[in-house]
Amino acid sequence: MRKYTDITTQDPPDRPTWVDRIDNPYLHGPYTPVVSEITAVDLEVSEGEIPADLYGAYMRNGPNPVFKPRGDYHWFDGDGMVHGVYFRDGRASYIRKWVQTRALHDEIERGKVELSGIMGPYDLSRVAGHEIESMNPDYCKDTSNTTLNFHNGRILSAWYNAGRVYALDPLTLETEGEQDFAGGLDTPMNAHGKTDPRTGEFINYGYADFQPWLTYYVISADGKVRHRARIDLPGPRLPHDTTITPNYTILHDFPLFHDLDVLKRTGHRVVQFKRDLPTRFGVIPRYGTQEQVRWFEFEPGYVLHMVNAWEDGDWITMDGCFQPDPTIRRNPQEGPLASMLAYLRFKGHLRRWRMNLKTGEKSEQQLSDLNTEFCLPDAEKYGVHTRYSYHQLIPTDLQTLAFEGLVKYDHDQGTSETYNYPAGWFPSEAPFAPSTRGGDEDSGYAITLATNIHDYRSEAWIFDAKRIMAGPLARVRLPGRVAAGFHASWFPGEQLWPQARAVG
Ligand SMILES: [Fe+2]
Repeated sequence: MRKYTDITTQDPPDRPTWVDRIDNPYLHGPYTPVVSEITAVDLEVSEGEIPADLYGAYMRNGPNPVFKPRGDYHWFDGDGMVHGVYFRDGRASYIRKWVQTRALHDEIERGKVELSGIMGPYDLSRVAGHEIESMNPDYCKDTSNTTLNFHNGRILSAWYNAGRVYALDPLTLETEGEQDFAGGLDTPMNAHGKTDPRTGEFINYGYADFQPWLTYYVISADGKVRHRARIDLPGPRLPHDTTITPNYTILHDFPLFHDLDVLKRTGHRVVQFKRDLPTRFGVIPRYGTQEQVRWFEFEPGYVLHMVNAWEDGDWITMDGCFQPDPTIRRNPQEGPLASMLAYLRFKGHLRRWRMNLKTGEKSEQQLSDLNTEFCLPDAEKYGVHTRYSYHQLIPTDLQTLAFEGLVKYDHDQGTSETYNYPAGWFPSEAPFAPSTRGGDEDSGYAITLATNIHDYRSEAWIFDAKRIMAGPLARVRLPGRVAAGFHASWFPGEQLWPQARAVG
């Protein structure tokens, strides 16, 4: 009997044998890695019909470790695997492939894992040379398992803790290589960059536990570093997301970060929440410098994911999923996994922050009581006012992170609708796919990949975004299992098949 796993189930048969020897809930049940890649066409539609105005691809990144990890396994340590479901002409195809990272290449060559993951311990000799800026401090395994962005004709895969950026072919999901934006990238890059739907620019930043603490980048639509600015912070920080508006980018400084003295002394990273420090948001003009950052202070806490931000005269409005105390659910009895389990048990709510760039006025307001995260608006509206967003409802009674419902918020009305997922199903993040026919902001679909814990079948579920409470209007059977994972994106067909648009 495993000590940690509280989801009662048999593990799936298509699993690596080494997971049987490790007592860690993020290697079993719905989190169990798969052992192969798949390419399949003309998938079986088990319920309903794939809408004809659904044109593009749902893609999701997530951890899928190949080899037995070194040290304690953190969910962020699994080798990135991308699942893509392509919809076109009422039909669907599916690809799942690993991101061919430098770390995975090394492991395949050696037949084992060499680098520790998030929980360390680290070889400090690898750290010592990185007091000054460097492309990548290779002391922690960089798995590229977290996000997917579309930029300059490629999918960019990136990792939670800032790392290398990998370019993937959007139609085959083959890894084309590391992306340093024509040599202009000189730090690790954060996972949650944003592609500006109006200009095609990719806006992101790098951060690390070693100087420079934060480096802000604007990458041009054709893939070159157009702007770079070092941003001074009081010390190393753990930002995770960012928001953009047409003229500004909002940077994060939360009172949650690694204790640098402990890292240097022990080789372990210990996250500390400093309740006496404020949350700070730094508004920087898109091509701004350190001196132009306008910092606003708010209630201490943490935000893993923002919904969106927009300008309204001199005001910036920003909505996100706020956690007043990210340490609140730490249980020391969970031993070496206690920190990982606690930080993945979200307890928070949707919040709105407003900042006036002229007067310095500010406000913050809770918008909902629901415990939701993994929040997505229509990505084509990043930077401008959005009325709707699609979130995952997080249960508070599980040891691990899971999603129990799809929540659609109406930010203008202050209301929400929830579809509770059927028991036994483990869905993924659900991005919005706009209808090719156009229409209202919610004319289109919310899509997720769901895996059943009893027979381990996986399906793509397509919801009418105007009627999510009605449940999926179509269910597409996938030819392989999808392990639970992280972020999903919708990439419109015009991006994936530009030639088709040119012809049609
Ligand atoms: Fe994230």
